Amino acid sequence: MGEMKHDNSTRAWNELGEEWFELAQTGESRIHFIMPYMLAKLGNVAGAKILDLGCGEGGYSRALAEKDADVTAVDCSEPAILYAAGQAEKQGLSIQHYIRNSNDLFGIEDGSFDIVLCSMMLMDCEDFEGTVREAARVLKPRGRLYASVLHPCFDGNHDTGIGRQGNGIDRQVVVMNYFEPKTWEAPLWRGKTPVVWRHRTMEDYVKTFVGAGLTIVDLDEPRATDKQAKMSVQLAWLQKIPLYLFWELRK
Ligand SMILES: C[S@@+](CC[C@H](N)C(=O)[O-])C[C@H]1O[C@@H](n2cnc3c(N)ncnc32)[C@H](O)[C@@H]1O
Repeated sequence: MGEMKHDNSTRAWNELGEEWFELAQTGESRIHFIMPYMLAKLGNVAGAKILDLGCGEGGYSRALAEKDADVTAVDCSEPAILYAAGQAEKQGLSIQHYIRNSNDLFGIEDGSFDIVLCSMMLMDCEDFEGTVREAARVLKPRGRLYASVLHPCFDGNHDTGIGRQGNGIDRQVVVMNYFEPKTWEAPLWRGKTPVVWRHRTMEDYVKTFVGAGLTIVDLDEPRATDKQAKMSVQLAWLQKIPLYLFWELRK
């Protein structure tokens, strides 16, 4: 059995530890916008074998297991996996958990999943190519990869790359350097501990998916519904500028 190789994403997320769990479970855009959207896209998952890659605190894994999917959850962060496993146990959900770098899913067989879910993690991992290669490897033929990432055109390094200007509903995004910088360190929104952030261009994403033999079935730039927009100015602004990108890919 192999041993997980650390890189700067796995180190940063391990050091972040528990800070992420509270942010994830109270973050308005994740709870009311990003997560319901992805779960609706996944639809009826009863009986499906799903790998939640970069599962974090495990919210998606639990939601999918509650819908009778057969879920395996993987993350590079030991605190995240311990927390996710504890929560699953408390709720009586049977989910398998592994601590792995997403670029080396040792112990997980080729062609074993109907669906690989990568929610908001492909912009974080250091080895993106290796991660997509592994996701493709563990998918069954014609299996689906559902992925979301912060939108690379409208989010990035706020000091020197892609900045937010102004406040409220008329806030603007100013793109200063789309191609640079590629990585930087900063806390998560409302967080304290610095984590490694990464910017990948649309071209990086698409060429890597295609290079791994995946076919793009769909791409969405989700926008807030009127109901979501009524919740806050932050969510209302998401009717103007997309926060993230969603892909459905087929092996
Ligand atoms: C922004 S969080 C998203 C968590 C979860 N998917 C969600 O949407 O709530 C990113 C997650 O990716 C994990 N991650 C980052 N780099 C990774 C890597 N190389 N291998 C495995 N997991 C990684 C982090 O530990 C973290 O849990």
